[in-house]
Amino acid sequence: MKTIEAKSLSPIETNAWLCGGITPRPIALVSTINSEGSRNLAPFSFFNAFGSNPPTIAFAPNRRGRDGSLKDTYRNIKSTEQFVVATVSFAMTEQMNISSADYPPNFDEFVKSGLTPEKAKMIQPALVKESPFQMECRLNQIIELGSGPGSGLMIIGEVLCFHISEDCLLNNLPDPERLDQIGRNGGAYYTRAHGEALFKVAKPMGEPIGYDALPDCLKTATFLTANDLGRLANSDHKPSFMGLRSPEDAQMTKPHLEQYITEAIHNHRLEDAWYWIHIYSAE
Ligand SMILES: Cc1cc2nc3c(=O)[nH]c(=O)nc-3n(C[C@H](O)[C@H](O)[C@H](O)COP(=O)(O)O)c2cc1C
Repeated sequence: MKTIEAKSLSPIETNAWLCGGITPRPIALVSTINSEGSRNLAPFSFFNAFGSNPPTIAFAPNRRGRDGSLKDTYRNIKSTEQFVVATVSFAMTEQMNISSADYPPNFDEFVKSGLTPEKAKMIQPALVKESPFQMECRLNQIIELGSGPGSGLMIIGEVLCFHISEDCLLNNLPDPERLDQIGRNGGAYYTRAHGEALFKVAKPMGEPIGYDALPDCLKTATFLTANDLGRLANSDHKPSFMGLRSPEDAQMTKPHLEQYITEAIHNHRLEDAWYWIHIYSAE
């Protein structure tokens, strides 16, 4: 394991380490206006949600790493206290990218990117028509995390209302497949949350039995991955099959049992997995 002391890095190198290692990050495409009402649009991936009551999000339009100068998004929010956060679907990738270019102040990135401004319901800055999930926000507070180049300027905002495209709803909640959002990785890399990249994990119910309750013969086995063992450890109980095995099952070879256990775990049939484990451990 290589260790790097943060103090030994320049602000630009530090940014590359943070962005390369904390991935993928959601992207806030932030729409603001200045005090004269000119529109501005720019993406920010130092972004997330931080509370539900009140609904709170934060993102960071930081001081530029090269010269410490301030970004338009920061200046606009400081003066108007309002902003729209639009999330970015795969179909918007290239247009979002254009909106990140360093245009002079008072340049409307809606025009440059070709994204469409739409009137918001509760605030002055425009919604982004192409974005399937957006939030109208009011400034809660700004936290300054330093004063030099690359230093953090954290904008904390309260969500006043959510907007979602009707066709991106599943059971009245956002459907990840249809939102098809992208995230930012390091350098020029992005992630698309779609198809095989999306997967489900069962929430622990009550008190899962835990890794320590797994039989030793499984923990030392090489046919199961850490995720396979983790899924088994997430069982809400360890079924007992005492005396419950057919003579044919008891004759099964180790490779067959290993295959059955693996398949049952992969197909979320934990009860079956435990049955085969019972026979496997009795070998
Ligand atoms: C996907 C993506 C994510 C970005 N994330 C950030 C970020 O979190 N913080 C930041 O200061 N700049 C970030 N940038 C760069 C800004 O978008 C860029 O500096 C932009 O010109 C700022 O525009 P403004 O001056 O109109 O606010 C990001 C760029 C891209 C393409």
